[in-house]
Amino acid sequence: MSVLRSTFVAASRSPRLRSTAERSSILTPVVERFVAGTDVDAAIEVARDLAADRYVSLDHLGEATTDPHAAEATVEAYATLLHRLDAEGLTGRAEVSVKLSALGQALGDDGQKIARDNLLHICSTAADVGATVTVDMEDHTTTDSTLEIVRDVRADFPSTGTVLQASLRRTEADCHDLAGRGSRIRLCKGAYDEPVSVAYRTKAEVDASYVRCMRILMTGQGYPMVATHDPALVTVGEQLAIAAGRGRDAYEFQMLYGIRPTHQSELAAAGHKLRIYVPYGTEWYPYFMRRLGERPANIGFFLRSFTGR
Ligand code: FDA
Repeated sequence: MSVLRSTFVAASRSPRLRSTAERSSILTPVVERFVAGTDVDAAIEVARDLAADRYVSLDHLGEATTDPHAAEATVEAYATLLHRLDAEGLTGRAEVSVKLSALGQALGDDGQKIARDNLLHICSTAADVGATVTVDMEDHTTTDSTLEIVRDVRADFPSTGTVLQASLRRTEADCHDLAGRGSRIRLCKGAYDEPVSVAYRTKAEVDASYVRCMRILMTGQGYPMVATHDPALVTVGEQLAIAAGRGRDAYEFQMLYGIRPTHQSELAAAGHKLRIYVPYGTEWYPYFMRRLGERPANIGFFLRSFTGR
């Protein structure tokens, strides 16, 4: 991971910068490139537009919650979102993505239980309206806890999916474990600044790991969700799916709202199943900082938004 990217990931964790940045209830154009808006209406509007030729996964932004009431408020926000998706007739095209740290995972010794119970509530509401839930993956210190919670919740809600990060050395083994019938695994590169003891640090190593993991998922029995904007990996993903005898409805590509939009349109127009991850909400700062750090050109874009040039 580059120094620049590490710096932005570190800044994404600063409570002081976060509270300053999130103070305004209006998103600046530079944030709006990556975040659908601050409220559920804005998220529904974007989802409705995208649903014309693709699928969506909506994320109510929030993470690293240190307050049980905030975790409960997150559960309520997802209930509101899911009922709105149902009312708008969008549940065939839309699901939700959830971060366990927003559901209380970090709340001390009880965090695991609190997050699991909160996730069960969300999955139950999702099941009532016919939508699925995918659990995001955060930094490597949470991987075991997240996979354990997802395993527990899948006993009642088997369609619950989760994310694996190709940058982690453990992920090939996790892919083998989780490629069974009925599983839904979103494979991404990984957005966190991880130590070399647990993670690959160069692009070449991460990309090679991504291909190995995709091959395991594509030849497995589950439903692979190939989450990357990397055109080379998208091509390899399609080749591996064909080699594994999968039709286009037996896997999907996924990308983030606002990133490589032309590539997104081309994939959808070519008939690929493509899902766009659409974040919304007032707690946009950590997500936005991770996106900024992923591409040096974003920094110029960000700075120009202040200078007006
Ligand atoms: P890579 O970073 O190599 O980028 C490939 C190309 O895409 C770049 O050359 C550039 O053109 C474009 N690009 C990528 N990022 C960009 C950006 N921010 N701005 C502008 N252009 C950009 N991570 C995680 O740790 N846990 C998770 O739960 C998830 N969830 C998730 C869901 C979905 C649907 C996606 C697509 C991604 C995630 N991620 C994630 C993020 C993921 O780990 C990774 O950080 C980003 O997707 C960037 O990696 P790429 O695979 O796109 O490759």
